[in-house]
Amino acid sequence: MIKLKPPMGWNTWNTFAEKIDEKLIMESADAMVENGLLEAGYEYLVIDDCWSEHHRDEKNRLIASKEKFPHGMKYIADYIHSKGLLFGIYSCAGNMTCAGFPGSFEYEYIDAKTFAEYGVDFLKYDYCYKPIETPGHLLYKRMGNALANCGRDILFNACSWGYDDTENWIKTTNSNMWRSTGDISDCWASIHNIHTQQLRFQAFNSINCFNDMDMLVVGMNGNGHVGLTGCSFEEYKTHFSLWAILNSPLIIGCDIRNMSDDTKKILLNKSVIAINQDKSCRQPFLIGAHPWPDDNEDYVWVKMLENGDLAIGIFNMGETDTNIKFSLFDLGLGRVTGKTLLLTELWTNETELIKNEVVMKNVKAHNCKIYRGKIVDNNV
Ligand code: GLA
Repeated sequence: MIKLKPPMGWNTWNTFAEKIDEKLIMESADAMVENGLLEAGYEYLVIDDCWSEHHRDEKNRLIASKEKFPHGMKYIADYIHSKGLLFGIYSCAGNMTCAGFPGSFEYEYIDAKTFAEYGVDFLKYDYCYKPIETPGHLLYKRMGNALANCGRDILFNACSWGYDDTENWIKTTNSNMWRSTGDISDCWASIHNIHTQQLRFQAFNSINCFNDMDMLVVGMNGNGHVGLTGCSFEEYKTHFSLWAILNSPLIIGCDIRNMSDDTKKILLNKSVIAINQDKSCRQPFLIGAHPWPDDNEDYVWVKMLENGDLAIGIFNMGETDTNIKFSLFDLGLGRVTGKTLLLTELWTNETELIKNEVVMKNVKAHNCKIYRGKIVDNNV
């Protein structure tokens, strides 16, 4: 499997955890199509932990829970595929999954074959109950080899939360995306914390092995398994903009059967998604007075885009409204170049031709502005 853009989809865990069944999955597949998510690029429907029985069969194969999935996983896969979607499933590199179901350790080839027979297109592979004598890179190589030889093209989503210096070995394992942080919860502190954890990992993010900042909490509004206080509309916008510009996979975690208009407005913003899905997939970089985090909570993230435009996200991660500034010089557009920027803000669609070397923007606490900037002649 070669993945050239951050994967996009929906996953059961954030909202439903163990409360999953055939009906939920089929309704969610319908919702992905009917609500325009598939059309916007969200193509993977991923069933997370808790889908199997607690024991293997007589040939050591995993068995789908008879109660939750009475028709089995092939039936589910066929339904998902009939909708034009791709099917994701979950297992774990250890002896058990994080929720205590059978893990794939020592059963990697049997499980990869089972997943191929089901019609799986995506495997999320967790890190709980890891045998201590086997290093993480070997556990992921085992399954990476098994998947690459199972006869089906299956995206490999490693989920070792950045533990054991994952960034140093993950690209050796056939993984197409890797969890570079701990688990997200539906509150501002978690979003803030994941962004901070992510700062040092940008150089490791690449085509075919994307840094995964965990599933989105947009639209959860405090409901479901990882639902805590919930976030405001503006905080969810900031969350989505950050994940987008940092090239994280965009995997939705709310109940997509019941999305509010505000939630759809965020998740279906095609201009912001286009920044995330940009073909050249350049590493984002920080500019501004404080290019590396100290006690400053303003961040200006920039990403060069395939058509010559620049994506510029200005984020106020702090608690007070503030003026965030950036200079054209730091973007490679100093005065001598004779060039400036025509900015389009991607949440409001407001456009603005930049007239001064230094751009100053008032940004409220927990808020952001995200622009696509076109480089144009500076006749002003
Ligand atoms: C870990 C993962 C989560 C989820 C749960 C399932 O915590 O990081 O994303 O898959 O396990 O048990």
